[in-house]
Amino acid sequence: MTEKPVALIVLAAGQGSRMQSDLPKVLHRLGAVPLVGHALATGRRLEPETVVVVAGHGADQVRKAVAKLDPDARVALQEQQMGTAHAVLQALPLLEGFEGRVLVLYGDTPFIAEETLGMLASHPSDVIVLGFEAADPGRYGRLVTGPDGLERIVEYKDADEATRAIRLVNSGVLAADAATLREILPQIGNRNAAGEYYLTDLPGLARAAGLRVDVVTCDEPETLGINTRAELAAAEAAFQARARAQALEDGVTLSDPATVWFALDTCIGRDAVIGQNVVFGPGVTVESGAEILSFCHLEGCHVSAGATIGPFARLRAGAELGADVHVGNFVEIKNSVLDEGVKVGHLTYLGDADVGEATNIGAGTVTCNYDGVSKHRTRIGAHAFIGSDTMLVAPVAVGARAMTGSGSVITEDVPDDALALGRARQVTKPGLAARLMQALRQKKGR
Ligand code: UD1
Ligand code: CA
Repeated sequence: MTEKPVALIVLAAGQGSRMQSDLPKVLHRLGAVPLVGHALATGRRLEPETVVVVAGHGADQVRKAVAKLDPDARVALQEQQMGTAHAVLQALPLLEGFEGRVLVLYGDTPFIAEETLGMLASHPSDVIVLGFEAADPGRYGRLVTGPDGLERIVEYKDADEATRAIRLVNSGVLAADAATLREILPQIGNRNAAGEYYLTDLPGLARAAGLRVDVVTCDEPETLGINTRAELAAAEAAFQARARAQALEDGVTLSDPATVWFALDTCIGRDAVIGQNVVFGPGVTVESGAEILSFCHLEGCHVSAGATIGPFARLRAGAELGADVHVGNFVEIKNSVLDEGVKVGHLTYLGDADVGEATNIGAGTVTCNYDGVSKHRTRIGAHAFIGSDTMLVAPVAVGARAMTGSGSVITEDVPDDALALGRARQVTKPGLAARLMQALRQKKGR
């Protein structure tokens, strides 16, 4: 690896008109996160000093998404999309004082590998371009090489027949020292077929200034850029295939891999077992040996070792499940902490709750956490027993070892070791059912 510090510039200002969408292209989801999150996550692994995303179309939306994906990343605004060199220029003021290697990536190119970026970051040349041998070179920029490296890049629109015959093409990713970018980028003009400021003019100008310019190559699939919904769907399939293979390789059992859907950041421990038709949204960690049965949906949650979830359970953001917790069918859990050994077997909603160790939550329990304006917390101690069909009207607390009677509506705190009943007393009328039925039949003439 290079000694030099690294900065990333992620270009994401383009509209992506071929998506036929009001949403900026880089915010379409792949692996349950916005497209731009993929390049950001891979780039982050190089531990860059600064990360700048260049936004233009839908900049406000992009800014919000980036703040969530990578809170330390900065966003530069490119109001008009005047070309890739112009885009990089907009990012440079945010790199003021940075004297290291700058990597330029595209927000719509999700599969670029960490090793490839590392290779670019540590390459000794002054400017280093990532190219690939294209099966169909199409409209990619052509890399014109000579005896001592890369001579220039020629955009398809500006290329003659002989140049168009070159199959070594530009991926768009490149690296150069910040000082080189500051010196050369302002020299780039827009006198070309597209009338744009091409970043691809950098190699030729750098070489004219006596700098070393070279190309490294990667496999074509790494550079796959997404331009249409069909390409996005194909990329999703490729992403999922890879994520499934990786999980299997990491020692996770997938009963039917093709039916399990992963997010970019899904993290599953060894010997976990994942049943059929399980969907992971962003932000899920599942520890070793946990079991997720079929038809579960998880996002933003943590499942500890030995826990069993589902079938048909939904774990939402902020669900923290301790060791050996059992969550059964038709249970929804949101923003709740369940300590070790808690059991929530059936038909329950736990929202904004803290549940102590080994507590049992009966079927049909609901934390009534929302009053129409605000959310409130429910606190349940350890070794408590919540009877079936208990409504816990938050804010409310149930003490350790306390019990609630089935069908109770609990509106007041229950002390430790107490039994709380909050329901109408039962009235039994002997023989009344039979007499009532007879009267009803007579009325109908039977
Ligand atoms: C670019 C390269 C081409 C390369 C190809 C690889 C240039 C001039 N050409 O062409 O050599 O083979 O990528 O896919 O660089 N963007 C901005 N602001 C702009 C223009 C673009 O942020 O003003 C962003 C886009 O959102 C996109 C990326 O830069 O993520 C590439 O832009 P695009 O217009 O797709 O470039 P290509 O014509 O494909
Ligand atoms: Ca493109």
